[in-house]
Amino acid sequence: MSILPLLFLFISQSLWKTSASQTWIKAGYWYTQSEYPIPNINTALFTHLICAFAYINPSTNELILITSDEPYVSTFASTVKKSNPLVKPLLSIRTQNEYYGTNKNSSLFLSMINNPAYRKTFIESSIKMALDHGFEGLDLYITTLLSTKGNMTNLGILFNELRHAVDQEKLILTMGGHYSPEFDLQSYPVDLVSKNFDWVHIKAYAYHTPLVDNFTAAHAALYDPSSPVNTDYGVNEWIKRGLPASKLVLGMSYHGFAWTLVDPKDNGFGAPAKGVAITDDGTVGYKHIKQYLRSYGVNSVRNSTYVVNYCAIGSFWIVFDDVESIRKKVAYAKEKGLLGVSVWHVSNDDNWELSKAIAQEEDAYNHHKRLLVITLCTITFFILLLGCMICCLRKRIISKVKQVMNSGKPSDHNHQVLSFEDIREATNSFSEENKLGEGGYGPVYKGKLSNEQEIAVKRLSRSSKQGVKEFKNEVTFATKLQHVNLVKLLGFCTEREEKMLIYEYMPNKSLDLYLFDPSRRSMLNWEKWVEIIEGIIQGLLYLQEYSRLTIVHRDLKASNILLDANMKPKISDFGIAKSFESNEIEANTDRIVGTYGCVPPEYIKQGLYSRKYDVYSFGVLLLQIISGKKNYNVYGPHQNLNLLEYAYVLCKEGRGMEFIDSSLDDESSTYKLSRCIQVALLCVEEKWTHRPSMLEVSAMLRNEYQNLPMPRRPAFSTNKYEEEKKNKANGKVYSVDMATISQLLPR
Ligand SMILES: *[C@@H]1O[C@H](CO)[C@@H](O)[C@H](O)[C@H]1NC(C)=O
Ligand SMILES: *[C@@H]1O[C@H](CO)[C@@H](O)[C@H](O)[C@H]1NC(C)=O
Ligand SMILES: *[C@@H]1O[C@H](CO)[C@@H](O)[C@H](O)[C@H]1NC(C)=O
Ligand SMILES: *[C@@H]1O[C@H](CO)[C@@H](O)[C@H](O)[C@H]1NC(C)=O
Repeated sequence: MSILPLLFLFISQSLWKTSASQTWIKAGYWYTQSEYPIPNINTALFTHLICAFAYINPSTNELILITSDEPYVSTFASTVKKSNPLVKPLLSIRTQNEYYGTNKNSSLFLSMINNPAYRKTFIESSIKMALDHGFEGLDLYITTLLSTKGNMTNLGILFNELRHAVDQEKLILTMGGHYSPEFDLQSYPVDLVSKNFDWVHIKAYAYHTPLVDNFTAAHAALYDPSSPVNTDYGVNEWIKRGLPASKLVLGMSYHGFAWTLVDPKDNGFGAPAKGVAITDDGTVGYKHIKQYLRSYGVNSVRNSTYVVNYCAIGSFWIVFDDVESIRKKVAYAKEKGLLGVSVWHVSNDDNWELSKAIAQEEDAYNHHKRLLVITLCTITFFILLLGCMICCLRKRIISKVKQVMNSGKPSDHNHQVLSFEDIREATNSFSEENKLGEGGYGPVYKGKLSNEQEIAVKRLSRSSKQGVKEFKNEVTFATKLQHVNLVKLLGFCTEREEKMLIYEYMPNKSLDLYLFDPSRRSMLNWEKWVEIIEGIIQGLLYLQEYSRLTIVHRDLKASNILLDANMKPKISDFGIAKSFESNEIEANTDRIVGTYGCVPPEYIKQGLYSRKYDVYSFGVLLLQIISGKKNYNVYGPHQNLNLLEYAYVLCKEGRGMEFIDSSLDDESSTYKLSRCIQVALLCVEEKWTHRPSMLEVSAMLRNEYQNLPMPRRPAFSTNKYEEEKKNKANGKVYSVDMATISQLLPR
């Protein structure tokens, strides 16, 4: 009986609690130059996501986008909203000159604001751009303003005018500001800032950087007993000068800075340093720092005086905010009554570790505050919540499995539903002798049905969560696709929580067994190889051009090309394939999949996929076929070239035949080996728009083109970076560029 009032109490309490925590800002910047796929952002961890940046055109005073940013900025808001409708997307306006000169100051911005007509143009074009692209607010990023000499008289007028304009459209207006409101004798007009902006988030980091300072230092010190260059000082100044704490958002960085020490033994704070390390400007993303530390087996040290983490590896010295420091800063923001936190920038997080810490710390704080009053309610609440969650979760899992089962049941009658008993019998109770192999998905067995038909059975391991998705995908595609060069799905079984796919049996297994094994290779002459290449091309043409759907396979590699009794190739494994409407050129996807080495760069860097994804993988495969070489090894006189680059270098020097397996003889074939290497290199070009379509590939190989274009340097070339480094280094010592390498590792 006493449970009802209790229930009421906890409901009202929890409502109050959620509404209170919703007003706390958790903003994250997404930076175009990071090339991080927008759909991969964990939107559940943010209340506002800020797209950075749009720039001011100094000759027209209009807000503009850099051309290469346009596709991303224009889809940012809709992508974010699709993922989480509660998140508010904002567009950030960079007011520094940097895209129009080397000097990163705000002088051009300052000359703009002193002309009423220019201001009008700027404001109108900004509002228009925000509305055109679905943004719900603007962020004026003016962090360098105070260190720029110029006439600030009309800054306040600009703020007033901007506010008036955004109010007409019900947009949010925020400001990115310096950590302190006064600097170098310049000051923001704090009262007008306070009046016109929804909030100000301060750049409370990069106080010291290796490009400027010849000593190591805490780049984002929360406190510093010996200097005013720290966050606590800046926050107090803002508040003292009239900005309410409830309009202040604490900016934190998801990157650190790396110095090169003068003496590796002298590695504390304030140690002499001689410039940057690890990257060109010394900034290193959190995820790269973690990777760096892991690879050296080093732990960072937290200094609680400054509230930062640092570590020394040889002569490198790195300072950054790790989870504990971020938590401390969130607790500080809460304690001070600030409005929230903002982070620069989201793609530097490591598996969302830092953003999760922010969310947890916020929860922990809210929780702590109310703990004494509502202990009982909270306990009841959590028990009930847990019960609900378990219930919901069970329901969801059950309905999901049902959904998969239902959608897995195709309506056409080409596929049989086999009973578990039949399959058990066919595979001799899934015996070890019948096991053909083991995929990421689960084991594959050979079997023989009672009508003597030989089959291959793919059995989804029960633990595989991903597997359920891929099972569904595979069934969906297999029921819709039929072609002699695609492996044929005969049926499936979804009995007793089992999920099994039944295929025609391929007696000659898969292409990878023939590619690199000299004795098996010798079983195939060039004519046989040409038939295999032709078959793969036909399969791909069907997927891309002739089937009802347009399919990107996304995992085309030798082990997914199966061979029937006549060595006819059949493409298999549509577990991660994607279809899209034929009029779409490209689509963004939410998960990095595929096999390293066969995945094109635009997918790894931006999550973009198109038909050219499979063209790329085909190019890699073709190079393997004609050379018999693996794409994991390194080649060349200095053992510093990957397979693609090695082919390119030899081809460019007119020595392409040295790349090709000398046992192959193309004398009597119209398919010439020298043409194959050139076409393959066109397929693996860095830019997907430069790669030929499968139709073109097919025509090129059959010699229907008079002149083949000369291939450009292929994707993932190491020498490209080497050349760049040589140009930049000029005698300075750089480490291996971790940031570059790790970008190339999809998993
Ligand atoms: C700001 O940068 C411009 C170049 O973009 C330069 O001409 C000017 O002298 C700089 N002004 C200040 C105050 O630093
Ligand atoms: C700053 O600009 C205002 C208006 O544009 C002008 O009246 C004022 O004299 C300028 N101040 C300086 C120091 O140039
Ligand atoms: C760092 O720079 C200051 C002045 O810019 C100079 O006095 C000092 O000797 C320098 N220290 C080192 C270690 O180079
Ligand atoms: C943090 O580093 C400073 C400078 O080296 C030192 O004075 C201070 O004692 C350190 N704080 C802690 C808690 O170790």
